Amino acid sequence: MLVLSFESSCDETACAVVKMSDSCREVKSNIIASQVDIHALYGGVVPEIASRAHIEAISKITYEALDVAGVTIKDIDIIAVTNGPGLIGALLVGVNFAKSLAYANNIPLVPIDHIRGHVAANYLTHKKLEPPFLSLVVSGGHTSFFDVKSYTEFEEIASTRDDAVGECFDKIGRVMGLPYPGGAMMDKLASQGDKYAIAFPSPSINKETLDFSFSGLKTAVINYLNTKNQKGEQIIREDVAASVTFSITEAIKQKVHDALIKTGYDKIVLAGGVSANSHIRHALMELCNGTDVTFYAPELSLCGDNAAMIGAQGYYEFLDGASADEALNAYPS
Ligand code: KG4
Ligand code: ZN
Repeated sequence: MLVLSFESSCDETACAVVKMSDSCREVKSNIIASQVDIHALYGGVVPEIASRAHIEAISKITYEALDVAGVTIKDIDIIAVTNGPGLIGALLVGVNFAKSLAYANNIPLVPIDHIRGHVAANYLTHKKLEPPFLSLVVSGGHTSFFDVKSYTEFEEIASTRDDAVGECFDKIGRVMGLPYPGGAMMDKLASQGDKYAIAFPSPSINKETLDFSFSGLKTAVINYLNTKNQKGEQIIREDVAASVTFSITEAIKQKVHDALIKTGYDKIVLAGGVSANSHIRHALMELCNGTDVTFYAPELSLCGDNAAMIGAQGYYEFLDGASADEALNAYPS
């Protein structure tokens, strides 16, 4: 089946064509029009600007996605679109565009949850991966463990009680003067610093829960940076990045270990924009090395927001009977 898919929940307008069947998971095209440069001017995503930029980009990238895949709209079997969670104005652009295209061409329309899409990015990278498994979704908006019982049955078993891990990286990056979003740059700086230089609090709360809390860590790092600035003392950005990353990585490693014991699964599937982080990937690979647990993460090009992942999940949701009509709406959370 050929799936045409759309993603516009935040600051990337994305359209893809994926070919899916029992034996095939293939990305035919995966086009992303990023708005990062526009939002970088404001140090974060400006929702109204995001919606307008989605409107400007969506038609053009749809032609491009079909072109690159070497198909026309007549070849498409399903249209899949992210309808939540995310910025409501941004989501509505993708949802309304997909609805019109589906209605005009008489193609089934499948609404997709953004988080499920992130998990499905792994199916495109690991062709043999099948549920059930434990998944940890780490992104700008989410940090949650899911018991993925089947392709379409998810149970959230733990989450962050406040900020998401990507948000924590980005907010610290902003105070450190890094360009928005700071996550990727923090990753690079951390590789050059001393992870033991500064002892920051752990986001792991305690051993009794699988939940995280990142607000205390974020506040501690920002206080550290402000105090250093006030005293006119030098800040070694590499050491700050390395120490923050170490605190986050250790907590994730511990919680994944505990969650694997709790669920009994032998597969841990990392997903979301922060799954690109080299230190977290390395730590989880190390955790699983020499055990009977296999670690999965998407290839780097599929970690951040993209439409190919929405198409992959769209296929499985369609097989499970999901469909929508012109009444389809978007939900922000
Ligand atoms: O999944 P995503 O593209 O958007 C949301 O659904 O939120 O995730 C974006 C987040 C941002 O916070 C960004 O800074 C972070 O992913 N990110 C990273 C890295 N690459 C992107 N965080 C840490 N290390 C990275 N290499
Ligand atoms: Zn995302």
